[in-house]
Amino acid sequence: MTKKESILVTGGAGYIGSHTVLELAQQGYNPIVVDNLSNSSLESIRRIEELTDATIPFYELDVVHPESLHPIFYEQPIEGVIHFAAFKAVGESVEKPLAYYQNNLEGLFSLLQVMDQHDVSQFVFSSSCTVYGDAEVVPIPETAPVSAVNPYGQTKLMSEIILRDVAQSRSGWSITNLRYFNPVGAHPSGRIGEDPSGIPNNLMPYITQVAVGTRPFLRVFGDTYPTHDGTGVRDYIHVVDLAKGHVAALEYQKAKPGVHTFNLGTGKGSSVLDVVKAFERATGKSIPYEIVEARPGDVAEAYADTSKASTILHWSAEFGLDEMCRDAWNWQSKNPHGYEDARSV
Ligand SMILES: NC(=O)c1ccc[n+]([C@@H]2O[C@H](COP(=O)([O-])OP(=O)(O)OC[C@H]3O[C@@H](n4cnc5c(N)ncnc54)[C@H](O)[C@@H]3O)[C@@H](O)[C@H]2O)c1
Repeated sequence: MTKKESILVTGGAGYIGSHTVLELAQQGYNPIVVDNLSNSSLESIRRIEELTDATIPFYELDVVHPESLHPIFYEQPIEGVIHFAAFKAVGESVEKPLAYYQNNLEGLFSLLQVMDQHDVSQFVFSSSCTVYGDAEVVPIPETAPVSAVNPYGQTKLMSEIILRDVAQSRSGWSITNLRYFNPVGAHPSGRIGEDPSGIPNNLMPYITQVAVGTRPFLRVFGDTYPTHDGTGVRDYIHVVDLAKGHVAALEYQKAKPGVHTFNLGTGKGSSVLDVVKAFERATGKSIPYEIVEARPGDVAEAYADTSKASTILHWSAEFGLDEMCRDAWNWQSKNPHGYEDARSV
């Protein structure tokens, strides 16, 4: 396979980043990873190298410091950047707003400054469906009004505004905001996957930890939403499909300067109990659960209108809920304590 461009992937050791680095390497790109390992393990990069036979240049550093980024742009022929590095826990962002604004916005400033100085102008940004707040219409199109109800969501909204202004400042920039819905699952090999520290904030890792015996039961937050079974409905997307969406965005934006925004989801809504049932079906494991009080700020349902990504990027999700559950369980059962297992060998 002929080598395509060198792409700097910030946060490339993390959950979505690692799957995207793997996908880039498999599609002939040369991914270069920057990560401060604040929420990840170098083991993910080692396993990507093992799966692809590629050598992945890795820099352990904090993206908020432009002076640490400059040398990489001299050393490597970087032609584009995919920016995953950020803090992502909504609840924690309410407790530590300054840390979130600082990490997520300063990281963005620092990268854009360094890219500008080195004349690199291809940028793909990890945004989130959280920017839609409590959307009035589902499925949610990219044109829906945006708002944020917590500091994490604000950092994504502010980043999108900054990126819009940057794209307008000079004609060479090509910038894509990818608004992810709910990434779940793992690479089908079971070698890389989601490795949350502490109590998982998201549904699927919570379910897999119950299945593996780390937690006694699942807490379902609220069963009186106006949905088909009363539990919250979300658009779960397999992380491998999401990773492919990044490559599709990179390829599209190369010839399309300006700023672009796409939803990445499946377009299908599944309730918490739908996911529990799909998981039980796919794995044969039973998931005990208890209904507890709804969390303030959680919306009843959110799922994507994916027609723009399908028409323009020629990308759409291929995996369904059963495969998401199968692969999440494959990862968790092979790595009951995530990458920690490899560290203790
Ligand atoms: N997982 C989701 O549900 C979800 C949904 C929508 C958007 N996103 C966004 O996608 C991106 C990736 O999310 P993820 O789930 O892979 O999270 P993750 O925590 O697994 O990955 C983020 C990575 O960035 C690194 N990092 C954080 N701050 C850094 C810094 N200042 N310098 C260098 N490295 C730094 C962490 O060590 C980690 O490896 C984030 O921007 C997140 O906000 C995630």
